[in-house]
Amino acid sequence: MMEKLIIFDTTLRDGEQSPGATMTGDEKVRIAQQLERLGVDVIEAGFAAASVGDFLAIQKISSIVKNSTVCSLSRALERDIEKAGTAISAAARGRIHTFIATSPIHMQMKLHMTPEQVIENAVKAVRLAREYTDDVEFSAEDASRSEPDFLARICEAAIEAGATTVNLPDTVGYAIPEQFGSFVRDIRTRVPNSDKAVWSVHCHDDLGMATANSLAGVHIGGARQLECTINGLGERAGNCPLEEAVMAISTRSDYFQLQCGINTKELVPTSKLVSTVTGFPVQPNKAIVGANAFAHASGIHQDGVIKARQTYEIMRAEDVGWARDRMVLGKLSGRNAFKQRIQELGIPVTSENEINEAFLRFKDLADRKSEIYDEDIQALFAPSGSQPLSNYY
Ligand code: KIV
Ligand code: ZN
Repeated sequence: MMEKLIIFDTTLRDGEQSPGATMTGDEKVRIAQQLERLGVDVIEAGFAAASVGDFLAIQKISSIVKNSTVCSLSRALERDIEKAGTAISAAARGRIHTFIATSPIHMQMKLHMTPEQVIENAVKAVRLAREYTDDVEFSAEDASRSEPDFLARICEAAIEAGATTVNLPDTVGYAIPEQFGSFVRDIRTRVPNSDKAVWSVHCHDDLGMATANSLAGVHIGGARQLECTINGLGERAGNCPLEEAVMAISTRSDYFQLQCGINTKELVPTSKLVSTVTGFPVQPNKAIVGANAFAHASGIHQDGVIKARQTYEIMRAEDVGWARDRMVLGKLSGRNAFKQRIQELGIPVTSENEINEAFLRFKDLADRKSEIYDEDIQALFAPSGSQPLSNYY
């Protein structure tokens, strides 16, 4: 039996911090229901103290969602925690996620607090949050730039105060995978009561390493909660994309030896919903959920996939919610892929010679047109298209 990795989705909170990705209450509810269908363990539904709209959306999501824990973010402030506690009160399982910055630059320049004051605030916040729920997460904001001795002290204090999850965010996407993995392991080792809490990672993508850092935090560091967003939405360059982390864990379960309870067939539908609601298109070459993620264009690859899908596919398109993998017919395609498409389209051909003739016409067309659609193939076999090749040139 493989150990479980908790998937904490923050599309509705950190994802919404993407400039331009604001969502209405109803849109948030729709996404939360889809996240529940996807099987995420924790849905961070918003930041209750940020606005009345966010408060109401968290309240509504708490009353509707039954199979995922519903969470509200809060600063380490009494009024934030009260709002978060009230917003999640109807949830079957509700979590308060309270945070305070722990790096020297944040403590000095942003909070204007001494390290001792920061610890005091964190402890008070966790204790108060525990009055609302027994599921409390503490985050040390900017953990990856914090001083390890101090970070370990505040994590230990938070656990003693009742935190059940301790999160080490790479808030500004500064980490490097191996270093971050060792960092998480080191902090856990320094905290005497480390096994009384679940350790979590939350990585931003400023250097394009959010997924790699998160996975290193899990594999090397021993974190058992991974925070992520659909399509990698999030503040600045975004967060670790849920679909990438989940598919890495499942495709390489031989390496990670972990399982997450995600219904992977819902990955593409969830990605499409979030993209439609936010108006943020998914780049075609985006891993897992991009339109080209399972598209084969070169003749050599198409031929390989027709003979055995595993030649060029490490995952199956159907397993992540695509109808199937896609052969893009164009000038790089080979005869095998062309023939397969003819069969799929049900075009009646009487001989291999007829296919050979049509293939030459197809190549000629492909030189002039970047992608050949099914209609183009059908046209190649239309009465005029079935004339001998000599009539064409
Ligand atoms: O990036 C970050 O540090 C956060 C915290 C609030 C967890 O989003
Ligand atoms: Zn964040």
